[in-house]
Amino acid sequence: MNDRQLSPRVLEALSGRELIVVSNRQPYAHSREDGEITVSRPAGGLTAGIDPVMQRTEGTWIAWGDGDADFEVAEDGRVRVPPDDPSYTLSRIDLSEEDLEGYYYGYSNQALWPLCHGMIYPVRCDGRDFERYRAVNRRFAEAVVEEAEKGSLIWFQDYHFGLAPRFVRREAPEALLTQFWHIPWPTANTYEVCPQAEALLDGLLANDLLVFHTAEYVENFLECVAETVPDATVDRDRRIVRRGDRTTTVRAFPLGIDAERTEELASESGVWSDLAERYGIGGQTVALGVDRLDYTKGIPERIDAIERFFEENPDWRGEFTYVQNGSASRSEIASYEYLQQRVDTAIQRVNRRFGTGEWQPIVRIDEMLPEEELYALYRHSDLALVSALRDGMNLVAKEYVASQIDGDGVLLLSKFAGAHAELGEDAVTINPFDTQAFAEAIERALSLSAAEREERMAAQRRRVTEYDLQAWMNDVLETALDCEPAHDRSVTHA
Ligand code: G6P
Repeated sequence: MNDRQLSPRVLEALSGRELIVVSNRQPYAHSREDGEITVSRPAGGLTAGIDPVMQRTEGTWIAWGDGDADFEVAEDGRVRVPPDDPSYTLSRIDLSEEDLEGYYYGYSNQALWPLCHGMIYPVRCDGRDFERYRAVNRRFAEAVVEEAEKGSLIWFQDYHFGLAPRFVRREAPEALLTQFWHIPWPTANTYEVCPQAEALLDGLLANDLLVFHTAEYVENFLECVAETVPDATVDRDRRIVRRGDRTTTVRAFPLGIDAERTEELASESGVWSDLAERYGIGGQTVALGVDRLDYTKGIPERIDAIERFFEENPDWRGEFTYVQNGSASRSEIASYEYLQQRVDTAIQRVNRRFGTGEWQPIVRIDEMLPEEELYALYRHSDLALVSALRDGMNLVAKEYVASQIDGDGVLLLSKFAGAHAELGEDAVTINPFDTQAFAEAIERALSLSAAEREERMAAQRRRVTEYDLQAWMNDVLETALDCEPAHDRSVTHA
């Protein structure tokens, strides 16, 4: 992202105040390879998007230092980045094995992740994990308070920090606090299974502004507050919550991608044929699925639909190839390990049933592809299968659309992905729970005329380009500035 596209109001506000970003993953990691310390930039559109803004504002980014040499380069965890042109501070938090067990693998990813995705079965809200989550949130909050100056704008990212805003608020009552919740917010009757329901809402209501991807999640959140927090007054029309003398504004701004950069990457020529050859992607027609191997993404459901498609459309054998690019994720958690086994078994089954000597119906690519290869795959895929059972947004859908510079691919999109609110009208909508209808949707997508495919894709491309990462960031930051507490800011609590 280029910060010249930030609105004049945001640019002006950020030149006069410090921006403090708090996220679990860091924008730069130091690791040791063959005795040398190297720096890498972990993949992730949002990290890449916030980085130029941080460079401009000379702010501080607080994150978990997960690189094995992070604390060799700076014992106190504070390092100036980017390494080749240092312009802001990355303040790393060192987490122990026990911290990670309770905070990351435990409460964040076995309680909040499934709960917010409405998947009750794997939810484990263990009080012991919650205590560790609380302790880690407190450490991040202490780091924030240490950095904060009068007027700092503090921006928390995601579900790893449900309690930190309250800890910061206690120490710095006048700070401007904003949080973006990257995953869905569940309905009240799902949320009520959580024994820590009230404590989490108390943490989140310490924000001046709380942002979700869609209006549905905002409504769910307001409903949960109304049912769970006795002393809160919820104004659904204005989408605000009042408690005592404080107000939390709750808004929906769907996260976008850097569409310009995506198009540039997809325009590189000569990458696709090498990639197709290296992985043995045969067949004239290609469909893709790109995901972290997560049970919310509907990957076994997708493979079942592909199997049904081949059962019912044998003529497509040898012609149609599905490429599954899925990187392992959170593998230490049993439900993820089980998912990975299910995916392995399903792929083997389909390849055994329908594969021929020269052609495999499913090609799996387990490694994280370099960007130019990933975007070549996006560009050259005739179909994208986004079959999430529930997803906050799903940026793969947007990346696919932005990469379609030839304008003729078709997005099959689950009605349960947040992206459906923006792209659903021109996508082929699927319900991943219905194997037969999903298989028929693949067939329908393949039979759309060129004119129809182009028309649908053009409409989707307009949306993704117009409401991109920059537009989203302007909306979030401008709304945060509008939420500035109106009281006397002359006292410093740094
Ligand atoms: C979700 C979260 C992101 C996170 C990503 C990767 O999409 O909303 O904030 O970056 O998962 O998860 P990980 O656990 O590997 O950081």
